[in-house]
Order: sequence, then C-alpha cells, then structure tokens
Amino acid sequence: MMDEEILRLLREHPSVFLSGEEISRRFKVTRTAVWKRVKHLRTLGYEIEASTRSGYRLIRSPDVLTPSEIKPLLTTKWMGRTIHYFHTIDSTNSKAYQLALQGAEEGEVVIAESQMKGRGRLGRHWFSPPFLNLYLSVILRPNIPPYRASLITLMAAVATADAIQKYSGLLPMIKWPNDILLGGRKVAGLLNEIHSEMDRIHFVILGIGVNLNMDGKMFSKEIRDVATSLKRERGQTISRKAFLQSLLEELERWYAIFLQEGSATVLEAWRERAKIKGKRVKVTSFGETLSGVAVDVDSDGALILETKDGRQKRIVAGDVVYT
Ligand code: BTN
Repeated sequence: MMDEEILRLLREHPSVFLSGEEISRRFKVTRTAVWKRVKHLRTLGYEIEASTRSGYRLIRSPDVLTPSEIKPLLTTKWMGRTIHYFHTIDSTNSKAYQLALQGAEEGEVVIAESQMKGRGRLGRHWFSPPFLNLYLSVILRPNIPPYRASLITLMAAVATADAIQKYSGLLPMIKWPNDILLGGRKVAGLLNEIHSEMDRIHFVILGIGVNLNMDGKMFSKEIRDVATSLKRERGQTISRKAFLQSLLEELERWYAIFLQEGSATVLEAWRERAKIKGKRVKVTSFGETLSGVAVDVDSDGALILETKDGRQKRIVAGDVVYT
C-alpha cells in the first residue's frame, strides 16, 4: 500500500526531487522506512534517483500492469476501472470466476504477470511466462439468454483483433471460432466461460491471452511454427501497458455495439476479419474430424460446413485447420 502511495506522490511531481523528510512526514513513518520502500520499488524495476541532499525523483517506471500504472492511462468509462492484479496466479479466468461468484461487477478485470495453470480452449495449456505477454480476464453480466453467449466470444475476438491492428498497424485475421492470427500464426487466443441458468446468464468471463513480447525461440518446439507474438511480427518491443489500454477501450466499444445494435454488426466485423467463406477446412469437433468447405458462421456463431457429399453441418465447438 505504501509503495503505491509513494509512487503516486513521486508521479505527481515528475521532474522535481521530493525530500525524504517530506515523504516520511506525509506517511507518518521514519525516513529509513521510506528508503526501504524506495529500495524495494527499485527491485520491481522503478528507476528512482536518490540524493541525500535533495531526496527522491522518479525517472522511469517499468512496463508492469499494476493498477497504479494502468489507471492513469485508462480512457474507458467502466471497463477495467477495477483491476485485480496478481504477480503470479493459477489462471486469471479461475480467479475472475470466483470473484464473479462473490458478486464482482461488470467490467472488473483480473490481470496477472504470469500464470501457473494458464488455460487454453479444449483443455489445453496456455504458456504464460512472466512480464512478457498479456493475461486478462474480464467479467461481463449481459442480459441475454445462454444460447447467444457465443456472440460475446465473437465480439471479444473482433475487439482483440481491432486492438492489435490499432496498436501495431498490422492486419490480424480471425480463425474460427476465436483465434487471432498474424501472418498465419496465432498471436492471441480467447477462452470464454459462462455461468448461467437455462434461460439467463449470470456472468461471462472473457479470458484473453495475447503474445506480446515473446521471442520466437521462447515458444516450445511444438508451437514455434504456428504461434507468434506482436514483437516478432512488428520487430519492436511492445508496451504492454499501452496495449492493455487499447484492448480495454476496444472491448468497451464493441460490447456497447453488441448491446445496442445486436449481433449483426458484430457478425459483419467478424466475417470481414475471418474471410472464412469458401475456405477448405478440416474441423475436429468432439473427437470427430470433418473435411469440407466453410460456408459461413450463423447468427449464433456456429460454423456451417459443407462436406463432400454436399450436406451442410452446423459445428458449435471445435478446432479448424485450413487445408
Ligand atoms: C486458446 O486459444 O486456447 C485460449 C487461450 C486463452 C488464454 C487466456 S490467458 C488469460 C485467461 N486465463 C486463462 O487461464 N486463459 C485465458
């Protein structure tokens, strides 16, 4: 707590020194206690100049996603205004789910610098090393029936793709249902979970993982050829803070569009990003593999596939490979 307060004070006086005495007076602690906190902040990556005569001055902040770093950057009205921040956690989705069960409100987010048990779709593991990428879960409480929940997933995929494009200038594609690709390789994935009754959603957890600053060699051999990061594609280190700001803005914007205009605008944007019509695909769904031509996604976000015998199949969950 005191770390945050000291940082706030230093940020409020960007180019001047604040004396140790003044800080210690404000917080009613000794000057030694202040010095200890400053040393601790330095271990977290804060560059703080210290001079025995003049006091302390903040030179540079690290690219960490703490509430005190993020909040001053936020331009959203409600998305991400409450941030639950963790250095390490099992999974941000699990945490957000717990918080939502305890009554957390729409727009509250869980962010972690790393995940021990990052979860991917279909029971897979999501590689979540510290301080490189983004691991975010957002709590939403839409007043819609459960069968429309997959539209929220499409909406979030569009928002994530837009954030990537706005931030980097690169052109991401969406692969059904919600993988985000750059140059044909996966840069981000979404794992969305719902808690509902038969006819009413209690909450949705949007879990979003974006590979930001991983180098190619950091990916395991198995995924090196199919996964990428924004840094790898753009050839430049990405500011995680700035990217998170942009992603929260896009999520707030697209969620409002979904609530106000319904699914049509979301589906149109999704189709534009996915260009799925007419693509030859192989789909694995509940242990069955089907080949065919993708016809479209329907208004509930299911994939319509035309198989060799000319029949159309509706696929609600699964994995797609372009063939
Ligand atoms: C996928 O493409 O398989 C989905 C990956 C989703 C990963 C994110 S990271 C933040 C959130 N917490 C998790 O445990 N998973 C999601």
